[in-house]
Amino acid sequence: MQDTNSHLALFFEPIRAYLEDEAVSEIMINGPDKIFIERAGKLEQSTQRFISEPALKAAAVNVAKSVGRLLNDDNPRLDARLPDGSRVHAVIPPLARAGTVIAIRKFRKDKLTIQQLIEYGSITAEGAHLIDACVKLHKNMIVSGATSSGKTCVLNVLSSYIPDKERILVIEDATELQLQQNHLVCFETRKADKNGNGEVTIRDLIHSSLRLRPDRLVIGEIRGGEALDLLQALNTGHAGSMSTIHANSCIDCLSRIETCALLSGIDIPLTALRSQVASAIDVVVHTARLSDGSRKIVAISEVLGLKNGEYQMRDLYAFKLKGIAPDGNIQGFFTGFGNTPTFLEEAGLMGISLDMAMFEQVRC
Ligand SMILES: Nc1ncnc2c1ncn2[C@@H]1O[C@H](COP(=O)(O)OP(=O)(O)OP(=O)(O)O)[C@@H](O)[C@H]1O
Ligand SMILES: [Mg+2]
Repeated sequence: MQDTNSHLALFFEPIRAYLEDEAVSEIMINGPDKIFIERAGKLEQSTQRFISEPALKAAAVNVAKSVGRLLNDDNPRLDARLPDGSRVHAVIPPLARAGTVIAIRKFRKDKLTIQQLIEYGSITAEGAHLIDACVKLHKNMIVSGATSSGKTCVLNVLSSYIPDKERILVIEDATELQLQQNHLVCFETRKADKNGNGEVTIRDLIHSSLRLRPDRLVIGEIRGGEALDLLQALNTGHAGSMSTIHANSCIDCLSRIETCALLSGIDIPLTALRSQVASAIDVVVHTARLSDGSRKIVAISEVLGLKNGEYQMRDLYAFKLKGIAPDGNIQGFFTGFGNTPTFLEEAGLMGISLDMAMFEQVRC
């Protein structure tokens, strides 16, 4: 099979250089005359153009064909994963008002490691050690954040901390995670065919996974009713599982799980659902893309339970913004809040020692 960059380059001559440039992570085409790219975390407008709308649309249609899909008036949206893992989403006119819109998220073969996240200032060594401890202690963890904030990269790091001897079941819509452990079972969902048949959802795969004796479930992203299946799995003894969700803050993450669980269509009283969320999720790791394009783990928070029907959380460690330098770079520091995790003693018993100084509040 062809390398995707050359495969895409066949259709996308005007953006060939970006496909080949490792520093470019996303290419966004808003009609033939407007192309934006994200390079080293920053958005730039390109001077490249497609010669016409028909040429751009033909490129999108060819990409669809190359992955065995249709992009036409009856199917005006394409959600495709290319052979090398790059993600392409396209919408054609008249839905896209100013011409064919395409976004390409290039696949990064060399996944970011925790050492790189520390080097980039996305987290400190102490923060990484806390996350490692949570994984080793089998805490159920959710990585939350906005679109493109680095959730999947952090989930990849989290899952890399799972000890090799455990049986891990991974469920994704499209393979992005790169676990290296030995005892690994990976599943990918399947979309319905053009007659609407054959769909296999995350929910279906969670059901299969629970019958396959998992020690850990790793679910790429929670977007809908599968949240309820995950909650039930977590509350019935699959501790140490992890996933990601789009949310604006740690507390919002819990409300989003609740909302997604309601999409399951199963009638469950809100109070019962809240107590399921509160007891299933132990730790939330919140990520953000900051104004200078950098991605950070901006908060690690522990879920304490419910009080008067409201979620109680305890921030353990977070990034505090100090200001923005004249060159636009974010300045800040990581700090504790004077709160220690409730699992400190448990960590001690397991021989995991946490640096108590990291939980102290830094005053700057
Ligand atoms: N800490 C980081 N430092 C620099 N770049 C990063 C960092 N984390 C992620 N990235 C880059 O940011 C882009 C988005 O990352 P990722 O896919 O993990 O985000 P996401 O939140 O899962 O996105 P989505 O909402 O689309 O699922 C990728 O190109 C990735 O390589
Ligand atoms: Mg993601």
